[in-house]
Amino acid sequence: MAQEVRGVIAPGKNEPVRVETIVVPDPGPGEAVVKVQACGVCHTDLHYKQGGINDDFPFLLGHEAAGVVESVGEGVTEVAPGDFVILNWRAVCGQCRACLRGRPQYCFNTHNAKQKMTLKDGTELSPALGIGAFAEKTLVAAGQCTKVDPAVAPEVAGLLGCGVMAGIGAAINTGGVGRGDSVAVIGCGGVGDAAIAGSRLAGAARIIAVDIDDRKLAKAREMGATHTVNSRSTDPVEAIRELTGGHGADVVIEAVGRPETYEQAFYARDLAGTVVLVGVPTPEMKLELPLLDVFGRGGALKSSWYGDCLPSRDFPMLVDLHLQGRLDLGAFVTETIGLGDVEKAFARMHEGDVLRSVVVF
Ligand code: APR
Ligand code: ZN
Ligand code: ZN
Repeated sequence: MAQEVRGVIAPGKNEPVRVETIVVPDPGPGEAVVKVQACGVCHTDLHYKQGGINDDFPFLLGHEAAGVVESVGEGVTEVAPGDFVILNWRAVCGQCRACLRGRPQYCFNTHNAKQKMTLKDGTELSPALGIGAFAEKTLVAAGQCTKVDPAVAPEVAGLLGCGVMAGIGAAINTGGVGRGDSVAVIGCGGVGDAAIAGSRLAGAARIIAVDIDDRKLAKAREMGATHTVNSRSTDPVEAIRELTGGHGADVVIEAVGRPETYEQAFYARDLAGTVVLVGVPTPEMKLELPLLDVFGRGGALKSSWYGDCLPSRDFPMLVDLHLQGRLDLGAFVTETIGLGDVEKAFARMHEGDVLRSVVVF
């Protein structure tokens, strides 16, 4: 029997979001219905609302979530009712050219639930990133459910489903940060701070946080930054070079998504160093660099999709490290809020005093 639950929808471009009754079908083959316990408010949800992702309104927002599997459809073996799971938005297919080459983290054919959730009048909803978890229950592909230790608090666990995983993964998966490395992180929001925490976890010796907001830099220190640079008042490239013996950092992580910060990252790394772009640019942005510098400085210029994570490998591992006290994921949760507070949380995002607002059910 399809169920009716409450969920947050974005009805149209730039219209305020609102709580509506949504209809969640029973899971079909390969699908699962999850009772959502917590879901973080991410910039991508705001981008959906603003029409910045596509025009498939109405959207069912929310995608950084954890909860308990309620029911599964035919043929589902990887999770069972009662499992505590983090939802991921890249359920790998196992069959595309990336998967077949042993690089499932790049899967080019990730999948979502086939059936649609709807409004009561039958209008089909587009779930944000194929999840739609600002809802009491949501329908996903079973592969989007990653089982983790249920001892972790849901509001903490859910964050691994998107921004925090993107940042940690940018450092440890894409950037390959290792023991003794020098790392600079440009942009210290939720993603940048997670890159800092990931760099500390990986054993980086020097972690330089760069931001234009002193409040963000103070928080970055709590997350593990050993040095901070306010790039409003100080040239960040010079400062990073000075802090690294005049050379530049081994790995520079760009967590803003703008050409000027990318250029800073490019010049702030050591010769043969690595730049990781995890900030997401907008379509009109362009980059201009002397090609000779691209050649002459060598190294690697990489982008990090979802932290190049493999949910089945990375989520349980990071939850375990958190439970052991080695990774403070709780530090990312600024406030817990109700389902009706998402619009307010979008406003707080702009004020810059929140890492993550998390809806709890
Ligand atoms: N130089 C340095 N820092 C900057 C600059 C700049 N020119 N402009 C903005 N910042 C800082 C902000 O002060 C803020 O601390 O970048 C940070 C951005 O953080 P958030 O807005 O909280 O965004 P976050 O959730 O961390 O995501 C960062 O990653 O996944 C992408 O779409 C996401 O592009 C976004 C980026
Ligand atoms: Zn694949
Ligand atoms: Zn997100």
